[in-house]
Amino acid sequence: MGLPVTIKAFVFDAYGTLYDIQSVAAVTDESFPGYGEVITQVWRMKQLEYTWQRSMMQRYVDFSVVTRESLVYSLKLLGLNYDQAVFDRIMDKYVHLDLYPDAKVALDALKPNKLAILSNGSSDMLGPLVKNTGLDRILDATISIDSERIFKPAPAAYALIEKRLRVQPSEVVFVSSNPFDVVGAKAFGLNVAWIERVTPEAMAAEVKPNAPIYPVTMFKAIRTQMDELGFQPDHRIHTLSELATVV
Ligand code: 2OP
Repeated sequence: MGLPVTIKAFVFDAYGTLYDIQSVAAVTDESFPGYGEVITQVWRMKQLEYTWQRSMMQRYVDFSVVTRESLVYSLKLLGLNYDQAVFDRIMDKYVHLDLYPDAKVALDALKPNKLAILSNGSSDMLGPLVKNTGLDRILDATISIDSERIFKPAPAAYALIEKRLRVQPSEVVFVSSNPFDVVGAKAFGLNVAWIERVTPEAMAAEVKPNAPIYPVTMFKAIRTQMDELGFQPDHRIHTLSELATVV
């Protein structure tokens, strides 16, 4: 057994972990009444797929471009016409996303550890978002993978934590609600806390035999349950507030 390691930093995924990505639904539905849910879910699913596709193709563009391209995809597939003002208004929500209600209190409770975001988001998206929501006063760093030109879950993305915060992977608790990110961070060698926002029981209860599946249920099925890739988080919790109990 090695010596017990002291945790020195908590590093958070942004979208879906500190920020409620589903909060775009208000603006997507206002812009296209009745289509808000399907736009919201397809947009997020495609956005992540595009990051993986682009990383594998070695055709990096930053996350703001990926986010625009996936929104175009979502509107096109529904045959929705839009003008630039409507498109820009939807995109603008990305710098005004809702924080999960317990985010600030949970972050405060983890001080004096170093606190940071490590996100696929580009600096021009993350900077305004963090400022607009007041996290700039709490976080020590907001790290974008943009400098590496490859998205999580590539190891080079997680390596930025040590480079920027000067802490060893073993001294970090990485926090994410996104299973692809949990698996990636674990494979890289970080301690990982998974915010399991949808329990397997809640998931199963949402799907009834021979009943239609709503887009949000499909989203949960594809993007909220732990992946079968041979990696498990060190901590499985349900809210950010529970983080104070993991160390
Ligand atoms: C992130 O914030 C995309 O949710 C992912 O990096």
